[in-house]
Amino acid sequence: MLTIRSVPYLGRILAPSLAEAASKYLAAASWDRRRMLHTRVNEKTLFDYMSQGIDVNLKMGTPPETLLRRSNEYMKKAALHRLEKPDAPCLFQYGPEAGDLRFRQELSHFLSQEYMDPVQVDDIIVTAGATQGLAMLANLLFSPGDLVFVEDPTYFIGLQALRQDCGLHCVPVPMDENGIIPEELEQYLKERSSIKPREIGGRKPFWSMLYLIPTFHNPTGVCLSATRCRRVVQIARKYNLLVVCDDVYNLLAFSQDEESALQRKRLFAYDDPSRTPTAPPTRPPTADVAPREITWPG
Ligand SMILES: Cc1ncc(COP(=O)(O)O)c(C=O)c1O
Repeated sequence: MLTIRSVPYLGRILAPSLAEAASKYLAAASWDRRRMLHTRVNEKTLFDYMSQGIDVNLKMGTPPETLLRRSNEYMKKAALHRLEKPDAPCLFQYGPEAGDLRFRQELSHFLSQEYMDPVQVDDIIVTAGATQGLAMLANLLFSPGDLVFVEDPTYFIGLQALRQDCGLHCVPVPMDENGIIPEELEQYLKERSSIKPREIGGRKPFWSMLYLIPTFHNPTGVCLSATRCRRVVQIARKYNLLVVCDDVYNLLAFSQDEESALQRKRLFAYDDPSRTPTAPPTRPPTADVAPREITWPG
């Protein structure tokens, strides 16, 4: 009796939750089906879309199919060439943390030539891409909750790495046809520089970070003007900001002549007055603009 009477009673309680569970199950099943369809759509590569003439994603700087096909041949040739050398087994051993020394030497030579500005081997650390480098810097030098200033708009995966993966608080700074607007950045900094989210010093010496794409900015395509490059460096020094340049497109200009390359100097080059065209090359860096080195306590 108790059971029978209890059944409708329990039924009244259970029925709504059973119905809810059933509807959740059905919703989940249909979501799963949609997700499967979605996954199938996403499994298509950019080339599939391009061949159908639809949906080209301009947010990503993806190389053309023809170039990738050639890369296949180049990589095969290079790998075979290298694997035939007597020291080839060493390639599979653990190596220096900063990356293979011979590779870094070649890269420093290549970049010095292309930038027309010396790049030291010791200043190169090999990563699995720009995004990994960005995430490494953000994780090493900042703590979750720290502020990071970004151009508005900015590269969506960079933003994701900073915000979601590293837990930083991103502050968008407006830009125009000459890049980020320094006055806007300084205004934000004046308003917020009294905020001290954590102890500054030791392994976390910077108050905040400025993430910039100064050359052929993604997604707008603009370049930060020389005047603004200079101003950004001054502001960064004044407010103890680390400027992180995501300069993946620096070498991709159509015009290869020396003049245009010098016009598109790396932002880094503005950090030393002896290298800028407005200052005499022999002038020693003054205290407030000398290149700053990060030293790590033991
Ligand atoms: C500004 C910017 N940074 C980084 C990347 C990707 O770099 P990586 O694949 O080396 O992480 C892209 C690609 O679209 C990009 O536009």
